[in-house]
Amino acid sequence: MVEFTLPANSKVARGKTHGAPDGAKNVRVFKIYRYDPDSGDTPRLDSFEVDMDRCGPMVLDALIKIKDEVDQTLTFRRSCREGVCGSCAFNIDGTNTLACIKPIAEIKGEVKIYPLPHMPVIKDLVPDLTNAFAQYASIEPWLQADTPPPPLRERLQSEDERAELDGLWECVLCFCCTTSCPSYWWNGERGFLGPATLLQAYRWIADSRDENTGRRLDELEDPFRLYRCHTIMNCTSTCPKDLNPGRAIAKIKGALVRRR
Ligand code: SF4
Ligand code: SF4
Ligand code: FES
Repeated sequence: MVEFTLPANSKVARGKTHGAPDGAKNVRVFKIYRYDPDSGDTPRLDSFEVDMDRCGPMVLDALIKIKDEVDQTLTFRRSCREGVCGSCAFNIDGTNTLACIKPIAEIKGEVKIYPLPHMPVIKDLVPDLTNAFAQYASIEPWLQADTPPPPLRERLQSEDERAELDGLWECVLCFCCTTSCPSYWWNGERGFLGPATLLQAYRWIADSRDENTGRRLDELEDPFRLYRCHTIMNCTSTCPKDLNPGRAIAKIKGALVRRR
């Protein structure tokens, strides 16, 4: 398991402790990062003692319970509860992952929950993903083809062509990988696209129906956009969907070498 630390400048003060309800016998402690940039207060780590006999099995269940029953100001993103929307990505127990598919039982001791590392924080567990999504938009993530589709039917692929997209289409854009990448921490603002967007870029390069492969590769052949990846592979270790962005990046580099 790869563990990540918060940035060196992220001082965190001891916060409030919310005790377990009377009579609770099966208690787990959740330590949750709290920060409201508008308040000017130092970030703090609040403790919540949760009765696990009255809580669902996943980390997101505990967060929702805490928000519903203890502190309605706790702020986090979530939607699907099924690991498909990608919005409940946090740093949990030292690793970036999706709270809705992370069993509490897999974590020993206190459950520590921080926002995704090295991103500006909007509030509590909500990172500002503006730059990451702008980078995603920059790769034009849609099918581009001048040839019209066959009349009254979809563009066909062979089974092998379709299989090229496996391991790519499943990406839920949670940015767990991107925010685990040391190169992205230091070069994300300078243009490095990071593993999530590069995996998505390769998803369209690998699509047999797309006719813009050459231009897509041209756009990526850049010392910052692509070549700040130094194959550290944190991205692949952390992906909660078991995808391999490091391999997708290597395939883009291979395609660029082959066309020289
Ligand atoms: S393989 Fe590349 S993208 Fe993935 S963590 Fe390493 S440097 Fe970042
Ligand atoms: S590759 Fe994995 S970790 Fe990265 S954005 Fe996609 S699903 Fe999330
Ligand atoms: S709530 Fe959608 S991935 Fe967790």
